[in-house]
Amino acid sequence: MYNEIDWDKIDVTTEPPTEEPARQYYFMAKCREWVKGFEQENGRLPAACIQTFGCQMNARDSEKILGILKCIGYMETGSEDADLVVFNTCTVRENANLKVYGRIGQLKKYKAKNPGMVTMVCGCMMQQKESVEKIKKSYRNVDIIFGTHNIYKFAELLAMKLLDSPDSKKMVIDVWENAMEIVESLPAERKYPFKSGVNIMYGCNNFCSYCIVPYVRGRERSRKPEDIIAEIEGLVKDGVSEVMLLGQNVNSYGKNLEKPVTFTELLEKVERINGLKRIRFMTSHPKDLSDGLIEFMGRSEKLCRHIHLPLQSGSSRLLKIMNRHYTKEDYLLLVDKIKKAVPDIAITTDIITGFPGETEEDFNETLDVIEKACYDNAFTFIYSKRTGTPAASMDGQVPEDVVKERFNRLLEAVHRSTARKAAQYLGKTYDVLVEEVNAQEEGYVTGRTGQNYLVHFKGSKNLIGRIVPVRLCESRGFYYYGELAGD
Ligand code: 5AD
Ligand code: SF4
Repeated sequence: MYNEIDWDKIDVTTEPPTEEPARQYYFMAKCREWVKGFEQENGRLPAACIQTFGCQMNARDSEKILGILKCIGYMETGSEDADLVVFNTCTVRENANLKVYGRIGQLKKYKAKNPGMVTMVCGCMMQQKESVEKIKKSYRNVDIIFGTHNIYKFAELLAMKLLDSPDSKKMVIDVWENAMEIVESLPAERKYPFKSGVNIMYGCNNFCSYCIVPYVRGRERSRKPEDIIAEIEGLVKDGVSEVMLLGQNVNSYGKNLEKPVTFTELLEKVERINGLKRIRFMTSHPKDLSDGLIEFMGRSEKLCRHIHLPLQSGSSRLLKIMNRHYTKEDYLLLVDKIKKAVPDIAITTDIITGFPGETEEDFNETLDVIEKACYDNAFTFIYSKRTGTPAASMDGQVPEDVVKERFNRLLEAVHRSTARKAAQYLGKTYDVLVEEVNAQEEGYVTGRTGQNYLVHFKGSKNLIGRIVPVRLCESRGFYYYGELAGD
């Protein structure tokens, strides 16, 4: 593992190796030399701040960047008044982009105070030429831009700035159009010592007509099962008891491997890892969710009873135009099967309103699915036009006031559905993985049920990282108050 690296053994006086990940460890070692110099000059270690926008994929990418920075010797800080600031961007909806520009602009004041400050911008937004052009033109305070495919080269890019051209005002731009190899065995940090995200695949092949993801994250690539298992075994040794297997569409895992493996087969291997207590996964595409997986969910002892199953729309007509490859009826049948196989399962979803051409009838179909599926929670979105996607040039963009009104009705429907679910859960006891001391209420801790609900209950900090039975006593919508049910 990377935390056992003997840095003195890496000879930084030679040319860098060409193979990965050795090349990146070489650049980390070089940057470590720079950190030593910085420390001598300033009497402190350099501070780095990573700001993450968007989804779980980005969150995990940021943990990889942080892992590299920690190896180099940076201290993590939450303040943007730092020696290094990284913005890991999202572009799934237009307002995500707008937020980032504002935030990059705000960094100018820190750079004026600390001219040695390095600013890096990466992630999905940087895979789009217009965004890079805008930064080049209007945000000269940015030093390095890179994309989603070369995050593993973070140390090499940083070394370019710190060591090769520290005084240069030239922006380093390194964005790749296509993904190359998957580089294994690089460092990664995690927010909690006892749980971690694990990428099982990258990219997406689905091209839902509204979605930018396949264009900015590339085609589907699966990691080899042996690499995934080795990573999880290492994490378990390091104290992790829960993993979240991550992919844009985990149900199609393994199809492009030399020796194809199904997602269920992978889960069976993960289930057998000693010491691992809980397994989650995200995200499932309804069109690829197999009966084998449902059956496994019913008998697995480690899979959490939660599935995130994006609906997007309840209208079969719109689902076709969205290129989702299922109908309202297919979706509801799937939900029924899952509920039958896995009692007490929590189902969450993503829903878009305002997709081009959405009529009141289409929208009512969505409300009908919410009612019938009875979701535990839903992420609800107003359709956002993404240049380059098929939907962007479709007729019938829905007027803003109509969408806003539908959005409110959507929220109400989701609240009703959540409340119905709460009535089923209240009074029952569930295993809770305790995450932290509750900052708002003294004497309380906070954890998550397998269904992914937050629960606050009386307890002390030595429960953190443990899985304990908690009775749910009071529902506050998306979180609960409970009491320890005794070991
Ligand atoms: N507009 C609104 N929501 C979108 N999503 C993806 N693309 C768009 C878009 N153009 C939503 C989908 C997806 C979630 C991650 O983001 O619901 O499941
Ligand atoms: Fe986007 Fe569809 Fe892929 Fe999800 S499955 S990332 S919505 S294209």
